[in-house]
Amino acid sequence: MPNNQDKEMKNILSIDIGGSNIKACLLSPEGVALSEYTKLPTPGNATPESVLIVIKQLAATMGDFGHISVGFPGYVKLGVVYTAANLAKDKWRGIEFGQMISDLIGKPVRMINDADQQGLGLVDGKGFEIVLTFGTGFGTALLFDGELLPHLELAHLPVNKTKDYDDYIGDKALKKLGAKEWNERVARVIDIYKTVFNYDKLYLGGGNAKYIDSKLDENVKIVSNREGIKGGAILWKIKEKYHLITLSPKKSITAS
Ligand code: BGC
Repeated sequence: MPNNQDKEMKNILSIDIGGSNIKACLLSPEGVALSEYTKLPTPGNATPESVLIVIKQLAATMGDFGHISVGFPGYVKLGVVYTAANLAKDKWRGIEFGQMISDLIGKPVRMINDADQQGLGLVDGKGFEIVLTFGTGFGTALLFDGELLPHLELAHLPVNKTKDYDDYIGDKALKKLGAKEWNERVARVIDIYKTVFNYDKLYLGGGNAKYIDSKLDENVKIVSNREGIKGGAILWKIKEKYHLITLSPKKSITAS
């Protein structure tokens, strides 16, 4: 583990892995963007190996960095992936992906759920705040006074007899139903969250948030992936805890 002084001096490569695109941005330790926000398409058959290749390509364009932050679209604990609903089927369970990235790029890595990483970058840090991300899948992050609560895979709660939230308001539903009907569903989901969680503030992010056109309460705000990726800087400021660990390079591997 680098000491605090060391950490403060190093820029961070922040990566946000999505079902459609893998995004990257170089950040100062304070979260200021030092590079273009850059995206490459997520490989069609997104296996760990093929995603590593894209991460390597993105890292090569980003200049100097000392640490890497990764937001992963599934359930992740201590750098190990348990689920990845929108990447290659059956290829991710138990994969030590944080360690693989660290070995590949040769830098320390911290990896958490993608919506959680965005949450760290977006919230005010006051009271109970929820971040929902609308992309290929439906991301959720819950934070209390700026601290992440345990990651819940709310995307996979059933919302009716046949669908979970990913099916109901994910990208496939938007493309199939069109913006009007999708917005009706999104409004229903926001209503469910309001009733169930009584959040102080709700943030609506992810690539499809720009299509949300319903009237929103004052404590609900539309945000962008570009703002969310800045959570990668906060990820290096928080303490290691039950789900978060720093993974340092052990060996060199090549992605090919
Ligand atoms: C996954 C979540 C993820 C979300 C957004 C869902 O399918 O289960 O873990 O945060 O998609 O990528």
